[in-house]
Amino acid sequence: MFALTPEQLKLQARARELAQGPVRGRAAEVDRTEQYPWDNVDRLKDGGFVGMTIPTEYGGQGLSYLDAVLVTEQMSQACSVTGRVVVETNMGAISAVMAYGSHEQKQLAAGMVLDGDKPAICITEPGAGSSATEMTTRADRRGNRYVINGAKHWITGGGVSRLHLIFARVFDEKGEEEGIGGFLAIRDETEGLKIVSREPTMGLRGIPEAEITFEDMEVPPSALVMPPRGLKKGFADLMNAYNSQRVGAATVALGIAQGAYELALDWSETREQFGRPINEFQGIQWKLADMSIKLAASQALVYKAAASAPPGGFPDMVMAAQAKVFTSESAIEVANQALQIFGARGYSRNNPVERMVRDVRMFTIGGGTAEILRTVVAGGILKKKLPQSRDGYVKKAAE
Ligand code: FAD
Ligand code: COA
Repeated sequence: MFALTPEQLKLQARARELAQGPVRGRAAEVDRTEQYPWDNVDRLKDGGFVGMTIPTEYGGQGLSYLDAVLVTEQMSQACSVTGRVVVETNMGAISAVMAYGSHEQKQLAAGMVLDGDKPAICITEPGAGSSATEMTTRADRRGNRYVINGAKHWITGGGVSRLHLIFARVFDEKGEEEGIGGFLAIRDETEGLKIVSREPTMGLRGIPEAEITFEDMEVPPSALVMPPRGLKKGFADLMNAYNSQRVGAATVALGIAQGAYELALDWSETREQFGRPINEFQGIQWKLADMSIKLAASQALVYKAAASAPPGGFPDMVMAAQAKVFTSESAIEVANQALQIFGARGYSRNNPVERMVRDVRMFTIGGGTAEILRTVVAGGILKKKLPQSRDGYVKKAAE
């Protein structure tokens, strides 16, 4: 078992209290109404659970990713959407800005997040999902402005988030490409940023997934979050920051599965058939045993990946991918088995497990699919570049 400090145990207990109280009470309604839980955002703010990882000089608490994971895990057991808000106000886009941004960018982003804004990270495009480096959204330098054009889809928070970190190919005045950069824009303030449509999703319905377009969206050069190694290596550095969000996504999956497991465990004691609790049948006992093993292993991987981040740095790329692959796949299995243990009652929309099964399904997809992340792990353990494009191999062979 990971040794948590007394402060971490206290943080976990505080998060649990909020999660098992009002957050749990709202989860079904958030799903049914498909409304973003602003009231839970306020509760997270009051509890000091948003922007925890922001350094103290910018108004945060300078807590670690493991601390954020502990809170996310608790919230996600009760309400996956609220768990995702914890992730995205402590990891991902906000982490990239706090690590690579200018003083003004850090002040802006920290202020917005601490005020309850969940930044949106805009990478995926209709033609560039797994192959994110094929993105076509472009930022053209025109004098003292960048002009951004393109389209992103499946952007979490599109329509509720104000701050956006937008990945785009950057071109200089002469039209020469400099690399992939991240630009900050604010919905309703930056002209040309348009929320086009919302996806009708299977689960996680309380947070919008949106298509967003940028039509001659003008931003000053100061909106470009310049990674330390410059634009050529910009994408790699931005993805390095994104490893934190992958750990966060794994944590939400873990929390959902833990929540479903707890409900099934209770039910297995309550429900009697053949004159005895169903957990007296070995078929159910082995299910529960397998579920507990998967959860324990997932938790160990997630905590280890979170704790791999050096101070001011990010979780290790391979550990983050290992944690996300294993946890997301295990969580889907655990949630499904929980539903099975409930029998017909698990299939009812009145049962939270039905929601959990839908919510957990996305975690082998969003944030890098399980297939892509296996390739990331393979590249890491083999210490090889594993280009997936045909011309990548051709180029490599010609070197
Ligand atoms: P594709 O890339 O088209 O893949 C289709 C299938 O082919 C998958 O099974 C994939 O694993 C497989 N495949 C593709 N290439 C390979 C390969 N080389 N080897 C083996 N298999 C391969 N994006 C954002 O930018 N911001 C967000 O906030 C965001 N939030 C999301 C929230 C949700 C709920 C979901 C579902 C997605 C979100 N995404 C977001 C998008 C997500 O990151 C992409 O869906 C993901 O990267 C996969 O891209 P794709 O859907 O286009 O699938
Ligand atoms: N952490 C740190 N660096 C990373 C990284 C990560 N998670 N993923 C990629 N990089 C670096 C690579 O090491 C490489 O750096 P180098 O040029 O110094 O060698 C650079 O970024 C480009 O990566 P590479 O794997 O060569 O890119 P590719 O063109 O083959 O594209 C990816 C593959 C990165 C797009 C693919 O692995 C991926 O992650 N797809 C999923 C995208 C995703 O998660 N979207 C979520 C949106 S919310």
